[in-house]
Amino acid sequence: MNELFVAESDQIAEGQRQFIEHEGQQIAVLRVQGELVAYLNICPHQGGPVCEGMLIHKVVDVLDADRCHQGMRFDENTLHIVCPWHGWEFNARTGVSAGAGNWKLRSFPVQEREGKIYVRIL
Ligand code: FES
Repeated sequence: MNELFVAESDQIAEGQRQFIEHEGQQIAVLRVQGELVAYLNICPHQGGPVCEGMLIHKVVDVLDADRCHQGMRFDENTLHIVCPWHGWEFNARTGVSAGAGNWKLRSFPVQEREGKIYVRIL
């Protein structure tokens, strides 16, 4: 198991990300809703640089009592990262695909201690 230094804590603010290289691959560390997460920068769809994608709130349908569509709204509690190649969305906190729950970004444990951020490569 390797532990890699990523950045000083104050270098990754809320909604920001930092990329590190490990054995020829990129890993992104993001601070999302107060938590640090780390993902391999390879989309499980077709290998795009998913971690370079936009962070947006999940879009949800608004239905009335008869289940008729009344429009859409953003879910302010859930952030998605959107792969720049084909637009697949993944929950930024869990890495799980919004469209197909059995697809997931490869994640790594992140630790923040004494003002520094580290990723463990298992
Ligand atoms: S490679 Fe990411 S959506 Fe296709």
